[in-house]
Amino acid sequence: MVAPSFFEKIAPYYDFLTRLFMMGTYNSTRERMLDEDTSQFTVLDLCCGTGYISNKIKAKKIVGFDRSDRMLSLNARTKRDNKVLIKGSVYHMPFAEAEFDRIYCSSASHEFGKFPQILDRCHQILKPGGKLVLFDIYQPQNPFLSLIMNTFVRYVVEHNIMWVHTKEEWHKILQKAGFRVEEMNVIRGLYIFIRAVRV
Ligand SMILES: C[S@@+](CC[C@H](N)C(=O)[O-])C[C@H]1O[C@@H](n2cnc3c(N)ncnc32)[C@H](O)[C@@H]1O
Repeated sequence: MVAPSFFEKIAPYYDFLTRLFMMGTYNSTRERMLDEDTSQFTVLDLCCGTGYISNKIKAKKIVGFDRSDRMLSLNARTKRDNKVLIKGSVYHMPFAEAEFDRIYCSSASHEFGKFPQILDRCHQILKPGGKLVLFDIYQPQNPFLSLIMNTFVRYVVEHNIMWVHTKEEWHKILQKAGFRVEEMNVIRGLYIFIRAVRV
């Protein structure tokens, strides 16, 4: 997990840098994550940052949750009547059991060595049949892409603080936390898109 000060420092440049890093998939990935009618749902944007999901999704209620004041204050610039922003740590999520229909987690899972623990909590706060929609970097099997992931991405982009998983590992982690994988696809060889149902 990166030091909390990291996102405080990069917040003003975060959206610009993310667009670059996503290699032209910034909008298409979001469209894919939001490719369903969620207008009647209560949704959680976990590690919401500046609002990649929480400022676009249609929902009855959107909760954006993050620990960075600066990322949250940028997010808050977009006013939405149905949006609530809460500051806190993913290891202490202050939500009720079965509170959410959907949980979105974009570009954040790699920050956590204990992501399975976070998934267990997601399972509790999702309604049965609710879904987790996740996008992030992953651990490619292709030797060339693996080299990029474990050199440039690991050391230059993430300062050697990242945890990434192969597709097989993701399947096991999700299954263990009580999720059934509905979709799992690799994007541009470096990113993974997952939609998983809370069983
Ligand atoms: C790479 S950004 C992703 C932001 C957004 N989801 C997106 O797709 O642009 C990761 C976010 O996770 C937040 N974060 C990191 N560790 C956290 C923790 N322990 N609890 C809550 N949020 C955390 C950071 O503050 C940051 O906003």
